[in-house]
Amino acid sequence: MTELNFKGKEFVYNHHLAVPFRPLVPDESKSIGPVALDGNLIIQGDNLHALKALMPLYAGKVDCIFIDPPYNTGNEGWSYNDNVNAPMIKEWLASNPIGIEDGLRHDKWCAMMWPRLRLLHELLSDEGSIWITLDDNEVHRSREMLDEIFGESNFVASCIWQKVFSPKNTAQYFSEDHDYVLIYAKNKETWRPNLLARTEEMEARYSNPDSDPRGPWTSGDLSARNFYGEGTYSIVTPAGREIAGPPKGMYWRVSKKRFEELDANGRIWWGEDKDNQPRLKRYLSDVKSGRVPQTLWFYDEVGHTQDAKKLLLEILDFENSGDVFISPKPLELIKKVIDLATAKNSIVLDSFAGSGTAAHAVLQANKEDGGTRRFILVEMEDYADQLTAERIRRVIKGYKFSGTQRSELFRESITWSKIRKADRLIENVDAIGNLHGHEYDSIKKTIKDNELIVTGEKR
Ligand SMILES: C[S@@+](CC[C@H](N)C(=O)[O-])C[C@H]1O[C@@H](n2cnc3c(N)ncnc32)[C@H](O)[C@@H]1O
Repeated sequence: MTELNFKGKEFVYNHHLAVPFRPLVPDESKSIGPVALDGNLIIQGDNLHALKALMPLYAGKVDCIFIDPPYNTGNEGWSYNDNVNAPMIKEWLASNPIGIEDGLRHDKWCAMMWPRLRLLHELLSDEGSIWITLDDNEVHRSREMLDEIFGESNFVASCIWQKVFSPKNTAQYFSEDHDYVLIYAKNKETWRPNLLARTEEMEARYSNPDSDPRGPWTSGDLSARNFYGEGTYSIVTPAGREIAGPPKGMYWRVSKKRFEELDANGRIWWGEDKDNQPRLKRYLSDVKSGRVPQTLWFYDEVGHTQDAKKLLLEILDFENSGDVFISPKPLELIKKVIDLATAKNSIVLDSFAGSGTAAHAVLQANKEDGGTRRFILVEMEDYADQLTAERIRRVIKGYKFSGTQRSELFRESITWSKIRKADRLIENVDAIGNLHGHEYDSIKKTIKDNELIVTGEKR
């Protein structure tokens, strides 16, 4: 296996072992309910020490680690502060914070991450997985470090998150529209992501026009381009028309015998008039109960950076956005991680907590499915109390919100056939207005990207 070499690697390689154990000191006054080290935790301090302190209670117990470390853009003002016993590394302390001009910027970042990743690996349970957001500054070096620490064979995926909703036209080369979410399992052989809930759009593809007792179905092509020696026979439709064979250059997917069995079983669809090209019925009951996750994560599903800031401002009631000095991640983005990576009773750890979005996502997941997931957050900055913990206290207790809240009530793509049946569409939209009107101050109808969207708005 190729290994990443960075300056100082020999000094930090086993540094996690030399970090002294320090006890966690609970602060009742900042807590909601009784303090318990086996409850939800928000730890203020350097995560190197916090992770070490968690080891006696949590080694091998954490099911999902989500981290969003400094990306090392050269503008974040992160500092290398680890007390590694080597003169060269001690010299690094003099050049903090790490700026864009620092020729050892990448070495220092790797030296900072290495011992933390070693501890995170030890904290992860055998069924667990780690999810890391990064951009092109460090994603490739991280892959190599993770290959070494977690094992190349435990790499699961590198997802793309579309983080902005409009391109930056001032970009010199390319508008950078995405970040990455790297995923490694502790043991990929046995680890599997959960399936995602099927969308209404997916369900809507299935119907049952012939009252098939097997339930809703959709139909697929009976012919394919792949050569199939037994797939060239002629067919007679129920209406009596002869189809000489499959379309030119194609083959029926099944043999004549199998086709006749399927037809006798009512598993072939000939169209309303029973005279179309035959199609194979595919039943909703045969498809997986959820969606397999994909590696492209678009903002309309998981939010973008502006959404994340907006939500934080709504919860924390800051007077101006200048106070939001970290880059929060959207709630939906981390909620997706929780949905894919956890069971109802999982322990979730975020050791670069920032505004605490990961804990918010855990609470949200519990609220949705009645789960008892627990979170452990670590944040070293002074805002650990007034921002990180305060956000979570407010989410738990409820918070006052002023602004316009929008909920999508209806979304339908506009096709020619729907325009022809416009009366029915208008009836549907009016019915939604009648049903939900009393819950909102106004009901808005818009057409965007060929979709009709109905939204309820509450001020
Ligand atoms: C990019 S922000 C995370 C934002 C977060 N995901 C959110 O949604 O708000 C990274 C955070 O890690 C914290 N951090 C950086 N180095 C740390 C360390 N050694 N120990 C603990 N926290 C650290 C920073 O203070 C910052 O708040």
